[in-house]
Amino acid sequence: MNVHGQHYRTIWLKAGDPAVVQIIDQRALPFHFVVVDLKTVDEVAVAIKEMLVRGAGLIGATAGYGMYLAALHASRNSLSAFAAEVAVAAAQLKATRPTAVNLAWAVDRQLAALAAAGNDLEARTAAALATAHAIADEDASFCRQIGEHGLRLIEEIAARKGGAPVNVLTHCNAGWLAFVDYGSATAPIYAAHDRGIPVHVWVDETRPRNQGARLTAWELGQHGVPHTVIVDNAGGHLMQHGRVDLIIVGSDRTTYTGDVANKIGTYLKALAARDNQVPFYVALPSSTIDWELHDGLAEIPIEEREASEVRRMDGLHSEGIREILIMPENSRAANYAFDVTPSRLVTGLITERGICAASAEGVFSLYPEKRRGAARDGSAGQQLPPPGHS
Ligand code: MRU
Repeated sequence: MNVHGQHYRTIWLKAGDPAVVQIIDQRALPFHFVVVDLKTVDEVAVAIKEMLVRGAGLIGATAGYGMYLAALHASRNSLSAFAAEVAVAAAQLKATRPTAVNLAWAVDRQLAALAAAGNDLEARTAAALATAHAIADEDASFCRQIGEHGLRLIEEIAARKGGAPVNVLTHCNAGWLAFVDYGSATAPIYAAHDRGIPVHVWVDETRPRNQGARLTAWELGQHGVPHTVIVDNAGGHLMQHGRVDLIIVGSDRTTYTGDVANKIGTYLKALAARDNQVPFYVALPSSTIDWELHDGLAEIPIEEREASEVRRMDGLHSEGIREILIMPENSRAANYAFDVTPSRLVTGLITERGICAASAEGVFSLYPEKRRGAARDGSAGQQLPPPGHS
């Protein structure tokens, strides 16, 4: 997508130096546009944990490049020493953030690619680079396709409204900053806007880190999409008054039965949407589907982050970005980063292969090879859930 008229992805190799991965430091947005060099797997792990990069797709893509850097710098003394160092890097990256399944998916994909490349260490490193690029390219391509499929929903509403803007509510940032390009929840919005369909976005601010106010509002603004930032608790009120036509959110992990883990507060939006008959869609590439889990509430690990993120806020001051305390210093605070919206509250899933019901049947109708896998190897995680689950 464009920043000040120039096309950017969220991660790339430095021109002329393939040993350096570059990212946008999202902690500085929307106030400053800062590009950061990552040269080691340690730096990649910090970038994910400290949220210089965040969002399921980008976390996965960054981990992919992290594995490439690990291979690049791993011992050349022997295959076993090389493999041991890469294995340590894989574990280090997987431990950075627990909820977005794209992280483990990308690391495991890299481990498989390295193993398949044979015993030559340079061939393994070349395979790691090719796989990192493939993960990033695929992420961008899948998000573009999500945009095309989701566009249909916006077109249908636009036709009903006879030219009045379609009001879409979104939560957190599932935009291009959360992926490599386009975004998941924002891709249909960008596609509609680019085709001249009037669209307006209600942007939940998304406490405590304000990914909506800081990131979604910024990227929509860069692309010229009309939007309004609202506090997290305003969505229900707007829905009651008919001012939301459609909700599209992203996901950090979705079970194959359609339960959706997403930024904390998503579940409350889904409840309000159900009470007000507002369609509630989740946009996600298949890399976000966890094929092992069938009960999201019981099985998806929910990240708890530092209480300081609740106690404090940062923003732009005349002297730069400054942090302030917003509650009694000694009051306890808890910081649950995600919640799970049960499949029964989800109108549909928008994937790179199309839109399906949030159920095992719906998901397997788009990904039949996963159902065949379940039947073939009989793994418990890929069995269909008991009747009535979703
Ligand atoms: O904690 P974050 O910023 O990494 O959370 C991820 C998100 O931005 C959201 O949960 C998003 O809606 C899904 S990620 C594509």
